[in-house]
Amino acid sequence: MEYRTGAAMASALHALDAPAGRAGPAAEPQEARAVSLAALRRAEAGCTRCPLYRHATQVVPGEGPRMAALMLVGEQPGDSEDRAGTPFVGPAGRMMDKALDAAGIPRGEVFVTNAVKHFKFEPRGKRRLHKKPNAYEIDRCRWWLGQELALVRPKVIVALGATAARSLTGRPVTVSAARRTPGTLGHAAFAVTVHPSFLLRLRDAADREREFARFVADLEQAWGLAAAR
Ligand code: URA
Repeated sequence: MEYRTGAAMASALHALDAPAGRAGPAAEPQEARAVSLAALRRAEAGCTRCPLYRHATQVVPGEGPRMAALMLVGEQPGDSEDRAGTPFVGPAGRMMDKALDAAGIPRGEVFVTNAVKHFKFEPRGKRRLHKKPNAYEIDRCRWWLGQELALVRPKVIVALGATAARSLTGRPVTVSAARRTPGTLGHAAFAVTVHPSFLLRLRDAADREREFARFVADLEQAWGLAAAR
């Protein structure tokens, strides 16, 4: 994988939190970095960096301990998260919790966040259908993810799906290929796995069971690595 080692990864990480060129968004001139997670949440609440804030109920910041060794990065809040203001509390969150439980990982010890902090959707009658964030929205939101990374300094970062991997590396990533080749991101180990909503979409019970076990194994490996580093 292109992002695996050394300078490329360091510059990808740098691009997350520095005024940047191609790979990352520049800070707005008046924007200062937050010095704590609480300050970051307050700053995120006023985010207008892309148009998604206009229709979402609220921003959904990352959640978890300041010193978490493991950070899980999802795509964007869904309908439930948009209403609750908390990441991964809907169906995908329940699937993730089940996998964390199976892997013996206490969710309260993990920092859980998203690449994009506002819910993007398409109204369909009374329902709001999830819409994938585009490259512009992902890049604009990297300003916040970069600050979460700088404050928490996790030992291991796991991208849940392609959007998170795109945000963290600054380039398009194929999950199936990246999953086989974990690397580093700055000082942290970096791995890519599937998004829990992928498991929810599997209709065949045997497929679901197999993929769930693979997902749990990925989480176990990340947790083990975090304990060892
Ligand atoms: N899917 C995500 O990627 N993040 C959430 O917070 C919920 C669903």
